[in-house]
Formats: sequence, C-alpha cells, structure tokens
Amino acid sequence: MRKRIDIYLTILKNSHFTLGIYFAILICQGGEVMIKNITVIGGGTMGHGIAECFAIHGYKVNLQEINKEIRENVKQNVLPELKILAEEEVIQENQIDEILSRISIYEDLKEAAKDADYVVEAIVEDVKIKQELFKNLDEICPEHTILTSNTSSLKISDINKYVSDDRKTKTMVTHWYNPGHIMPIAELTYFGDTSENTFNKVKELYESINKVVVKVDKDVPGLIANRIQQGVAREVFSLIQMGAASPEDIDKALKFGPAFRYCSTGQLEIADFGGLDIWAVVGDNLLSVMDNTKEANPILREKVKEGKLGLKTGEGFYQYNDEEKEEIKREYTKKLITQLKVSKNYI
Ligand code: NAI
Repeated sequence: MRKRIDIYLTILKNSHFTLGIYFAILICQGGEVMIKNITVIGGGTMGHGIAECFAIHGYKVNLQEINKEIRENVKQNVLPELKILAEEEVIQENQIDEILSRISIYEDLKEAAKDADYVVEAIVEDVKIKQELFKNLDEICPEHTILTSNTSSLKISDINKYVSDDRKTKTMVTHWYNPGHIMPIAELTYFGDTSENTFNKVKELYESINKVVVKVDKDVPGLIANRIQQGVAREVFSLIQMGAASPEDIDKALKFGPAFRYCSTGQLEIADFGGLDIWAVVGDNLLSVMDNTKEANPILREKVKEGKLGLKTGEGFYQYNDEEKEEIKREYTKKLITQLKVSKNYI
C-alpha cells in the first residue's frame, strides 16, 4: 500500500495537482487515516519497552503513566537499553537522542490519547482497571482510534465490555514478549468483534517495526507462545522436583537439545522432519509418565515462601551475588540481541 501511495504521490507532484489533494493522499489510505500517532499506557516493564520499540522505528509515541516516580524514570530506563543496542550495532550511537526525543511522557490520559491513531495499554493485569481505562479511552479518542491490550491472561471481550459497539470492532489484544524492544514476536488476536480492517492495519503497523506477527484465530487463554512455554516449564519444574538432574544440566538439556532446534525450526516442522509415526509412538510411551498437573509446581510456591524469587532476591534455582546482577542482565540482553540478528534467517 505504501508503495502505491508513493507512486500516486510522484504522479501527483509531476502533474502539479493541488497541494490539498497531495496532503489528503499522504495521510489517507483507502479513505482511512494511517497509523502515525502511537499512545502507550503504562510505563512499567512492558510499557517502556513498547514505547522504545516504536520510537526506534521512527514513530512518535505518547506514554502515559499514573505513577510519578515511574513516569520520571521511563527515559532513564530506556537510555541504557538503547546504549546496548548501539554497542551491538543495531542502532547508531548518534541516533539515541533522536529516539528518546520521539517519546513524550504524560500524566494526563486525555492529553496523551486525544490524537492517537493506535493505543496499546500495558497497565496492571486487573480486568476492572483495564475496563475503566478502555471506557475512558473510548470517550477521549477520535472515532478511528484502535484500542489494544497487552494482557497476558484476560479476555478482550471483558476488557472492552464498556466501549461502544463501533469501537469494539477496533479493539484486540496485541501481546508483546519481554523485553519488548528486542523480542521479535507480536501475537495479534483476530476473533470476536475485531474487524478485518482493524486487524490488517495493526498487522501492517507491527510489520513496520519488524515484529514477527502471530495471528491468533481463536480465543484461547494465554494465546500461543505462553501456552507453549508453560508446557515446557511444567516438565522442567517437575524434573527438578523429582531430582532427575541438576538445574545446570536441565537447562543445558533444554538449550542444547530442543531449544537449539526450536530457535530456527518450529515444533510442527520438527515433527514432520522426524516423521509423525515416530512422534506418535514416543508420545504414547512418554506422555503417560510425564507431569500433567493442572497447577504450578509446588516447588515454585515453596521457593516463593522462602523469599527465593530468583535474580531479584539473589536466589531462585541458582544463586546470584549483588555485584554480578547487573552484568548478568547485560549478558542476557546481549545474547538476545545476537539471537535477534541471527533470527533474520529463520523466516
Ligand atoms: P508493570 O507493573 O511493570 O507496569 C504496569 C505499569 O502501569 C505501572 O508502571 C503502573 O504504575 C502503571 N499503571 C497502572 N494502572 C495504570 C493506569 N490506570 N493508567 C496508567 N498507568 C497505570 O507491569 P508489566 O509487567 O509491564 O505488565 C503490564 C501488562 O503487560 C500486563 O497486562 C501484563 O499481563 C502484560 N504483560 C507482561 C509481560 C511481562 O513479562 N512482564 C509480558 C507480556 C505481557
């Protein structure tokens, strides 16, 4: 579509059409406003990364956050992440100021959202608070604005309960993975009230920021990627619980076994390559003896009770010194960036 608009523009400029028509076509796409103005609600773990990602790709982003301290720290959280991207040559060092300047921080929702073409909320995972936010956004935003949620577990049909019927067709879940400025996946829902036009516009937007779009056709809780991850995690925690191997060896088995293939090749491709007859036999033999419980492994609850929450408290399945925490986070980010670069070959 963009290419078609560029051709129209060239023809129009050369044939001296009026400036009015020129600008009308510049901002329109099939009579509709293209997504230019982005508003992100919430500046926490996900919100700051989402805003950062859009800004990296040239979009102007308004970010609204109710908490004063978090609001004042958003850009300070984005800056070191941009510096690592520059070190890894994903962006240029001299682009950092410009990227940061594209993000405007707001306390007031109306100011942040009144001109938005697209809104994504990344606020607390509480259905009542999200419903209230969507209701307010429905009143504040122009008619064409698309309202989306980054929810991990809530239904869009509950979140959009109090918006107008017309707006419901312009709502959907756009689910990011943490850290949002690096992880390539974006799960976009296309069911319920979401119109084809809304889905297509949002898909185009996400492709313009180099996200790999996963279209979710059915209202399944947790969408696709988190469900796959929970399936793997359930077995990993169970193996630890039964003392099958050390944390190091279980993580090694995952990283250098299944995950090594999963980086480039999906489960369904792997099954096809190995032969579905083999997968059927091995599935029958193993699945009956594997963990099939319907709740989180008790080992997680025990560790939470003991205050062992992982890196943030210094101990989880592994132990961490205070001095090495920042370096561990940095190394993790760098590995993800390496993976991001290589993943360009996976499609
Ligand atoms: P967070 O707690 O780090 O950030 C939420 C932010 O929203 C906080 O800064 C809070 O002050 C702000 N906030 C709360 N109510 C608000 C309101 N009414 N208006 C404006 N700001 C408000 O939470 P996080 O982890 O960023 O999660 C946000 C959403 O993203 C949740 O729905 C979560 O389920 C989802 N999500 C989280 C992922 C993660 O790995 N943390 C991954 C994918 C989705």
